[in-house]
Amino acid sequence: MAESATKILLTEQVIRDKVKELAATIAGEYNGKNPVVVGILKGACIFLSDLIREMQIPCTVDFVRIASYGAKKETSGNITITKDLETPVKGRDVLVVEDIVDTGLTLSYFVEVIKQRQPATLRVCVLLDKPKRRIVPFSADYVGFSIEDEFVVGYGLDYNEKYRYLRDIRIVGSTD
Ligand code: XMP
Ligand code: MG
Repeated sequence: MAESATKILLTEQVIRDKVKELAATIAGEYNGKNPVVVGILKGACIFLSDLIREMQIPCTVDFVRIASYGAKKETSGNITITKDLETPVKGRDVLVVEDIVDTGLTLSYFVEVIKQRQPATLRVCVLLDKPKRRIVPFSADYVGFSIEDEFVVGYGLDYNEKYRYLRDIRIVGSTD
């Protein structure tokens, strides 16, 4: 089945404005704290890069890679960390940054892992939220956009490694 990504859901300008808004809120709450900003690879890389530059507060940046094995567009319950943090987070203010929360499995798993490391505080920021798809309860502390149950790409999000470079966020459709 061929797919296309021509239907724009969120334009570059709309995303930029939202990132600025989120960054202003976060910067206000973390002022003077030097948080560890944890990006989940690969999808969050572009969002995190824009977010910290808008936040304009000192922070440590680190990344994790989390794999879930299952069908292509789905998250299975089988989740593992394939690249862990290099930064000790005990006693630190941790802000996890993710592109999208869908079933909630990835973030609920990762939040538990970080909690065991005893951070001073732990919050999660997601650019996109698909609340209708939840399998496990999960609420992020900062949410950019709540969207319908559609597969989206661009601004770091991919479909089989395609479309991450797009400046906007688009809905993936089938061409046949
Ligand atoms: P869960 O289901 O664990 O999923 O909350 C989070 C991860 O699933 C991927 N995901 C998507 N990726 N477009 C994407 O490019 C989407 O619409 C989408 N929905 C879920 C993504 O990797 C996310 O980190
Ligand atoms: Mg992801």
